[in-house]
Amino acid sequence: MQPPEASPAPPSGPGKHSSHEFVDRVPVLAALADARCVLDLGCGRGDWSLALARAGTPVLAVDRWRAGLNWLQQQAQGLPLQALEADLGAPLPLADGAAGGALLSLVLHHLAAIGKAADLLAQITRVLAPGGVLAIIEFLPVPPPPGPALAVRLSPAQVLELATGAGLRGVPPQPIAAHVALYLLSKPA
Ligand SMILES: C[S@@+](CC[C@H](N)C(=O)[O-])C[C@H]1O[C@@H](n2cnc3c(N)ncnc32)[C@H](O)[C@@H]1O
Repeated sequence: MQPPEASPAPPSGPGKHSSHEFVDRVPVLAALADARCVLDLGCGRGDWSLALARAGTPVLAVDRWRAGLNWLQQQAQGLPLQALEADLGAPLPLADGAAGGALLSLVLHHLAAIGKAADLLAQITRVLAPGGVLAIIEFLPVPPPPGPALAVRLSPAQVLELATGAGLRGVPPQPIAAHVALYLLSKPA
């Protein structure tokens, strides 16, 4: 008898860093589980998207990394998950209030590096329904490794200033590791 075929390894590629180690450990899934549609923005290979969709939450997974999206679509057959190739530095191709929740995991510093963080957060506020939740996972300003160079990391004050500037409300971040924090924000109802 042949052994069952092993699952293909997920691709590693753009972004280099993944937050897959936190999927089972932090309260992101619970915060987003009741949303009628969650945007996983900069989804990478889609660890968060798959966990949400497997729990029954509809997900729109967005990234500009085509190989990651292709792999994710193969894994997501039969799940409530769609993948969209898009540049987060441009307006989101979604209607106002279309999403009940959103996730930005290890992505905001990429947009900050090109001067687009405020624009992206304004777009997220636009597409979130009133009362919708945005979960941000970001590197803390501590020296690597792991993670990107210290110079590109955002302080908690910077993240909260960007978020409140976009009209979101939040509480102080929760450290989820020595180098990463979780920010739970919401759009006023
Ligand atoms: C560090 S990875 C994080 C992947 C995943 N969210 C996670 O937490 O494991 C950053 C992701 O953001 C995506 N990304 C960065 N800038 C982007 C942009 N301007 N438009 C779309 N995706 C972008 C990269 O392609 C990459 O998949």
